[in-house]
Formats: sequence, C-alpha cells, structure tokens
Amino acid sequence: MQTPDAIDRLFVPRGEERPRPPLILAPMAGVTDLPFRSLARRFGADWTVSEMISSQAMIRHVPKCAKLALADEGDAPLTVQIAGADPAAMAEAARMQAGLGVRVIDINMGCPVKKIVSTGAGAALLRNETLAARVMESVARAVSIPVTVKIRLGWDAATRNGIAIARLAEASGMRCITVHGRTRAQMYEGQADWEAVAEIKSRLRIPVIGNGDVRSPEQALELWRCSGVDGIMIGRAALGRPWIFREIAHYLTTGRHLAPPTLEERAALIEAHYHVMLEHHGPRTGHLLGRKHVSWFTRGLPGGAALRESLNRTPTPEAVTPLLRAFFEPLLQARAA
Ligand SMILES: Cc1cc2nc3c(=O)[nH]c(=O)nc-3n(C[C@H](O)[C@H](O)[C@H](O)COP(=O)(O)O)c2cc1C
Repeated sequence: MQTPDAIDRLFVPRGEERPRPPLILAPMAGVTDLPFRSLARRFGADWTVSEMISSQAMIRHVPKCAKLALADEGDAPLTVQIAGADPAAMAEAARMQAGLGVRVIDINMGCPVKKIVSTGAGAALLRNETLAARVMESVARAVSIPVTVKIRLGWDAATRNGIAIARLAEASGMRCITVHGRTRAQMYEGQADWEAVAEIKSRLRIPVIGNGDVRSPEQALELWRCSGVDGIMIGRAALGRPWIFREIAHYLTTGRHLAPPTLEERAALIEAHYHVMLEHHGPRTGHLLGRKHVSWFTRGLPGGAALRESLNRTPTPEAVTPLLRAFFEPLLQARAA
C-alpha cells in the first residue's frame, strides 16, 4: 500500500466515522498571505491554500510569486493555487512549485474577475469543458504530488455545468474538489446554493469541500448535514475573525459554543498581526495590507468606523500602534468598570 499523502491525511477514508470534517481557510487574493494563513492555523484551520498565483507570472519568475507561496512548518501541507488557461504553462508552473517543496497544487476554476476570465482562466474554464479537462490532466500528469481544483457551479444560471465539470475533475485525476455554491455571474451576490453543492457531492467519489456563506458554527453544521461534504471552506467570515475555525470545530464536536477571545486578547492580537505584516511585506505594503486587517478586526466595536477613518489617513506605520492603543484603552476600561 502507498504511504498516505497530504490529501489522504486530511480526509478520513469513506465509511469511517469522523468527529467533524476538516475546516479550510479559503484562498483569498490580497489576504491569505503567510501571516494570515498562520493566524488561521493557530485558531484551528486544518488546511490553508495560498492565494491564486498566475502560472504565467510564476514561470517568468516574477519575484512577487515566491512570496505568495511562502510557508512555514505550521502551515503544512503547503498548498499553492495556480491560475491559467494554457495546459503547458500550468504544468510547468506546477512542476516548479513541486520542485520548491509545495505539497499540493490547487487549480483555480472559480475566479470571476474580468482581468482573469478575459484570458480564459479562472471561472472562464467552466465554459470550455474540453480545455478545463486538458488543463487538469496536464497538471496532474506533470507532478507526483496531489492536485486539487476549486470551481463554481457554472458560468451563469443558464449554464450550470458544475456536475459535468466535477466529473471531469474526477476523471482527470483531481484528488479533491472545492465547490463554491455560486455561478460566475453571481460574483459574490445572492446566496450560495448548498443544495447544488450537495448534488455534486452525491455524484463523486473524491472528497468534496463545500464553500460559500458559512459564517457561523450553526451554518457549518447545516452545510455538513445537508450535503455530507468532506470539508468546509471558510473565506470572508474569517476576515477579522480567524478564531471562527476553533469556534466551528468546538461546536461540531461538542454541540456547544466556545467563547470568543476577550477584548484584551483581540487588542493584543491585532497589534501583533499588524507588526507581523510589516515584517513580512516591508513597511509600505505591510502597512497598506495590515490596516485592512485592523479594519476587519475592529468591525462592530464602538468607535470602529472613526478608527478606520483615521487609519486610512495614516500613510506610514509609526502612528498605527498609538492609534490602536488609544482605540482599545477606553473600551478595556469600560469593560473593567
Ligand atoms: C478578497 C477575496 C479574494 C479571493 N481570492 C480568491 C483566490 O485567489 N482564489 C480562489 O479560488 N478564490 C478566491 N476567492 C473566493 C473565496 O475563496 C471563496 O470561494 C468565496 O469568498 C466564498 O466563500 P465565503 O462565502 O466563505 O467567503 C476570493 C474571495 C475574496 C472575498
């Protein structure tokens, strides 16, 4: 028997009891860098995926690509998502990543943005089943590490071919498939269709990960119950709330809610994360990306909107720690009183 690889280890074999499905941080461009993936891991994410990286940029050795695929030991198995529509370039990019120690390659077939779909990549591949199959086969043949794919339900309401694409994925050697329960035309609007995700799950033998609009432990349980998916992927709900993974894990295994971090913990966490962003990306980019996280972390807190306004007017990092402390101090005092 072959030694289990990264994908085997994530999913329990068919028929075996499992306490809960693995919880996965969704790939998000401009968000799921190493600092945020590490944070999600710390709070219970079982798997993370790099943000989408263009296969063409990767094979041209654009320096930014290497940073997007960076990982540390806590972020294993390192999974890099590649995007593109040229089977040979996708294979080459996958080979390069495997050579660099990446453990799983994920193919992007869901990105809805114009810049990507106009090149035939991302969700545009859903409209061209022949090319989609060639891309998947070409990547799967190029590397010995597992290859997975992330799709949407189809291009638009009139062409919901998610089941056909999922079957092609299985036949092309994909080891697991993530289904975001929306069409490309929906972008991020409307409600994710979990019944359609369930339908795809029921037709495949490979593990199926359900994705779209899971924002609470109860919703995670509902998606799991209604579809029997093998994994649950969470994106936007983890922004400013990376502890959602441990909250869901606790709820799925005990049926009880876990208390969220205290205000002190949140204050310390966001300050530390902002500084990790500066270290990782350098002061300029680190500041720009780091303040997005500050905004997410302070959503819903009294005075959060004013803090976000001040942050947006702050061009350099020096003022950020004093701003954060001035924001949290009165809140902490009010809690203590
Ligand atoms: C800011 C942002 C960036 C995203 N970037 C990617 C990406 O690079 N690759 C990808 O497959 N999906 C990407 N997505 C889609 C998410 O992975 C996920 O499928 C979607 O947000 C639905 O899940 P959610 O409702 O839990 O957020 C992105 C989503 C957002 C909000």
